[in-house]
Amino acid sequence: MSFFSSQPLGLRTTTPLTDKEFEELRSFIYQLAGIDVPKQRKYLLENRLRSRIIELKLKSFSEYYQYLRHGADRKQEIEVFCEKMTTNETSFFRDQKQLDVFRDSILMPTLDEQKNSGRKSLNIWSAGCSSGEEPYTLSMMLHEILKLGIIGWKIRITANDISSAMIEKAKQGLYNDYSLRNTPKDIIARYFTKEPGGYRIHPKVQKNVNFQKINLNDTAALKTIPRSQIVFCRNVIIYFDLAMKKKVINAFYDNLQPGGYLILGHSESLHSITNIFQPVRKPGGMVYQRME
Ligand SMILES: C[S@@+](CC[C@H](N)C(=O)[O-])C[C@H]1O[C@@H](n2cnc3c(N)ncnc32)[C@H](O)[C@@H]1O
Repeated sequence: MSFFSSQPLGLRTTTPLTDKEFEELRSFIYQLAGIDVPKQRKYLLENRLRSRIIELKLKSFSEYYQYLRHGADRKQEIEVFCEKMTTNETSFFRDQKQLDVFRDSILMPTLDEQKNSGRKSLNIWSAGCSSGEEPYTLSMMLHEILKLGIIGWKIRITANDISSAMIEKAKQGLYNDYSLRNTPKDIIARYFTKEPGGYRIHPKVQKNVNFQKINLNDTAALKTIPRSQIVFCRNVIIYFDLAMKKKVINAFYDNLQPGGYLILGHSESLHSITNIFQPVRKPGGMVYQRME
């Protein structure tokens, strides 16, 4: 580490984050990823960055800010910063009840519709996929529904996240018990192989999923994602402010084929964000449909 290597003493565990420093770092993550850190969560930013600043032997939060902006390793450090500032909590079969309703009232009818119109193809976009559990869950659900018939289908699940580390983990496809805490035993038996390092996802589940590092704040990059029948974006927009929420929801709208569905987390809604989508009430909550 060379940028501030002349500094003899690093940040102390007691050095506070000043309001000015908070504003600088808060604005930096917002510009970068659209992530909004409200004032009342100042402690969170402070806690997440302190150990990193100590590790880099920098003296203060403002030196860290300067390092992010001008340091020789700023590109790599921005990756680390992003990882510190995001919440990657996820699991396979997260919110099983919501997924059951999704399977019965959206996924199966969409597959029927595609088949009946002579297109045995389905595109799903998992936006903010963390370490891959969500898109792999969708792939396993499709295997469960279509069984061997999946061979005749062109299924493409495009999964992305801002974090390179999460995308790498997703591509590796090796998971621990914690990731599988909500997964039925028979599904584990069918789609995972136990290895000394954890549970390896079956290649046939991986085959349908294409991972890419993409920032949802990058409108041009979002335009490269294939048009979808279904967009999944669960537990992601809660971290964005209103302007960023509107921006990504518009991108989902543009991506969806007419009649396609947007699925948010079970406690999330588009209420007071936008009315471009038609809300459709389902037993497990609301889903959003792009009309013609
Ligand atoms: C809490 S996880 C949700 C994972 C999964 N969708 C689920 O519900 O289990 C939120 C994810 O959104 C990602 N994320 C946050 N801001 C992002 C952005 N601007 N672009 C892409 N991904 C982002 C984070 O890196 C994190 O992995």
